[in-house]
Order: sequence, then structure tokens, then C-alpha cells
Amino acid sequence: MSGLVGFAADLLGWYDRSARTLPWRVGPRERAAGASPDPYRVWLSEIMLQQTTVATVGPYFERFTARWPRVEDLAAAETDAVMSAWAGLGYYARARNMHACAKQVAAAHGGAFPDQEAALRALPGIGAYTAAAIAAIAFDRRAVVVDGNVERVTARLFRVAEPLPQAKPILTAHAERLTPEARPGDYAQAMMDLGATVCTPKRPFCAACPVSSHCAARAAGDAAEYPKKRPKAAKPVRLGVAYLALDGAGRALLVRRPDKGLLGGMLGLPGPEWSEAGPSEAAAAAAAPCTADWRALGVEARHTFTHFHLRLALRGARLARRPAIEGAVWAAPSEFGELALPTLMSKALKLGLSKLSAFK
Ligand code: ADE
Repeated sequence: MSGLVGFAADLLGWYDRSARTLPWRVGPRERAAGASPDPYRVWLSEIMLQQTTVATVGPYFERFTARWPRVEDLAAAETDAVMSAWAGLGYYARARNMHACAKQVAAAHGGAFPDQEAALRALPGIGAYTAAAIAAIAFDRRAVVVDGNVERVTARLFRVAEPLPQAKPILTAHAERLTPEARPGDYAQAMMDLGATVCTPKRPFCAACPVSSHCAARAAGDAAEYPKKRPKAAKPVRLGVAYLALDGAGRALLVRRPDKGLLGGMLGLPGPEWSEAGPSEAAAAAAAPCTADWRALGVEARHTFTHFHLRLALRGARLARRPAIEGAVWAAPSEFGELALPTLMSKALKLGLSKLSAFK
């Protein structure tokens, strides 16, 4: 591996020629001419980009910034308006943290984002990666930004044999040594662009890589084999029960899930907690939303989450009269599309409705 200065210089030279144009980005030319990015836009883009692609985020980012151009505007927005503008980006806890963060910045910091990693990290929804990314990109502070892209690039540069996730501290130490004092904001974004367009996960374009002369895996011809990963454990199966109640007009009973946990704060069919053993009959019965002539519908909604497969057995009933249930939402099938239902619940409703409609 040649000098570290050489690595950053080669990467930044490539970024100067080939930086992607992104709605939240101040490109290298404008930056060199003295422009600096709006920290609100940098923060918003980083929150949206957590676990989502640049292509998906683009239209959401445009809509958010058109509707709420400053952090104070977002802070003053109604929670429901923010949640429905977010629908489709997933992970509603992130949207709630984002709104809480906007309120805190507007109230406690006079609308100005802090420019240091530690103070950024103290804000809701901002972890180590996001704090480093904002400090670097918005404030041009030297911060060691390590996301999946940087881990992949670094694992290849140094041909790190240790598999992820154990390799994280090693990769972070390498990233620390590579990060330059000069132009840290451009450098962070250059690494992101390199990971997204050249040093891609499956088939890296080493022939087009501006830093291939620094790369141990390129020299060995096996870049695609890094980062090494520990073999994945088979996903366990969890079992659950969900209740589909229809009122006289064919509206389905939905309830909001608790804020914490999977699908937190989203609407869904009521039922007991999911587990590998499945709920006991007593627990299942106790989780029925009301007394009714519940019937097993003989179908399961299946969905795979990051860490497990779920099989949700459906029970259904038609109700002569709507019971009073706190927080209940009674929705006609034509309204399901507007409710930002999680995929699992859309599947369960569709399956359950088709079965229940066959019963008297
Ligand atoms: N992925 C995460 N943050 C990003 C950014 N600021 N630009 C491009 N891709 C990103």
C-alpha cells in the first residue's frame, strides 16, 4: 500500500472529476468556490438514507424540503403530517426520532445544528455514523465516517481476513488512518460514491477504480471476496395469531402497535406477541380484541423480517355491532392504501378477507 496522502489525493481527484449530483449535495466545485451545505439538508438526507437507497430517497427529500424548508418548519409540523410524508421509507421509529430531533434543534439550539460529533450524537436518532457524516459533510470537520460502503472499501484495500462483524474495529482503525485533514467533507462523500458506483458489493469495477493502485485485494485479484462474512445462522421461525374483525359494513378493525419494537407505531391486526413456540391458546384468546365467534381461517400470512420468518395464523369474525375499542381504526378495503400499512399486515388483510368473505 502506498502513502496515505496518496490515497486521499487520488480519491479526491476522482471525486473532483466524477462526483454524483445529489439533491442534498454541495459538489466539489461549489465547495471549492466557498459554498457550504445547509446542515438541515445534510442531516435530513442522512436520516432518510439510513437503510434506504439514494434513488428511493430522492423524491422524499424533495417533498420534505419543499414543504418544510428549514428545521423550524419541520419542528412545527403536525406529527401526522410528518408520518404520512414519511410513509414508504419504513421504520417509523426513525421518523419519530427525526421529528423529535428537529424540535430539539429548533428549541434548544436556536435552529442551528451543533457542529461537533459529541453534541450531534446527543440528539434523537443520531448515532455514531450519522454524527460523523454530518460533522464531516455539513461542517467539513475531520470525522471518521464508517458505513457499509467504507467497511467494504477498507476491507478490500487492506484485504482484511477477519469476517464482519468482528472486523469492524479493524476496519474503523484503517478508516481512521486513511481520513485526511484536508477536505474531510468531500472525502467522506467520495468514499460513499466510490462504494456506490465502483467498489460495489458483488462485482466491483476495479478497472475503473481511482485507488486501485492502493488496493491489496485488487493486486491479488480477489476484491469481490471482501469483506469476509461470517456464515449466516439460519433464520428462526416465529409464530403468531392475528384477529380480523369485520363490522356490518365490511370495515376491518386495525389497532396501532406499541411505539417500541418491530413495526412500532404502525397499524395492524390485533393479536398476541409472536414467539418461536407460538402463543398458548390462553394467550391467543386473551389477545382477541373483543368477544366474538372467532373462527380459525385456515391460512397463515407469511413474511420474512431481517432476523426471522413469521407465520401469522389468521382468525376471523363478522361482528353484528362495533365494540368500543380504544384507539381502533375501522378501515374499508378501499382505504387500506392510504394507511401506510406494513407489508405483513397488507398480506394478512388480503388473505384474511378472501377467506372470511367465503364464510357466512
Ligand atoms: N449514503 C449515505 N449518506 C450519503 C450521502 N450523503 N451521499 C450519498 N450517499 C449516501
